[in-house]
Amino acid sequence: MAQRGAFIVFEGCDRAGKTTQCKKLVDALNRKNVPTEFMNFPDRSTAIGQIINDYLQKKIHLPDKAVHLLFSANRWELEPKLREKLESGISLVVDRYSYSGVAFSAAKKGMDLQWCWNPEIGLLEPDAVFLLNLSEEAAAMRGGFGQERYENLDFQKQVKENFMAMKSSSWKLIDADKSLEDLHLEIMELFNKVYTTSHGTPFKRFAS
Ligand code: TMP
Repeated sequence: MAQRGAFIVFEGCDRAGKTTQCKKLVDALNRKNVPTEFMNFPDRSTAIGQIINDYLQKKIHLPDKAVHLLFSANRWELEPKLREKLESGISLVVDRYSYSGVAFSAAKKGMDLQWCWNPEIGLLEPDAVFLLNLSEEAAAMRGGFGQERYENLDFQKQVKENFMAMKSSSWKLIDADKSLEDLHLEIMELFNKVYTTSHGTPFKRFAS
């Protein structure tokens, strides 16, 4: 049986460069013959993902708790796919995961961190979380927000605080305010360490 792949999650506020770095990492690893795939959450291609997409684009309104559970359901519907890929030896680089789910929802009034965390319990736990951290000043230099829900400065500040509150020892806090290439090299180095230590270890799942 193939040794399982590594499961890496990128988190961070909008405009931190997550998607670009995820894709650079995936390309570099595949060039080195480390089979790796990119995934992202929310996955807007599923039926649940399409409702989330309509919500984010402000085409529909949903109560905060209901949309929170849809984001979580979107991860649960893809859990078998993630597990099968990892079991077959493919490493996964995932752009946002449960931590975004909690950090964004808990930034809303009346939503507490533990309530938000509960539906995530039992999902696969990543081997490492790379949290791309960008100062508000540097983020502002990268241009304005788009039209989607949550794209405003005060909300993003609260999201950042929530990420920091959830941060544990398996998280790598990465200063994203550097060139694309420097950031990529740092991420490659971190990935190599995680890959070596996660190989052959059993999956972990989120506990309470
Ligand atoms: P995206 O810009 O990475 O496609 O993410 C869309 C938005 O959805 C982004 O503002 C973060 C937010 N989000 C949640 O609120 N809950 C979640 O579970 C996830 C994965 C993202």
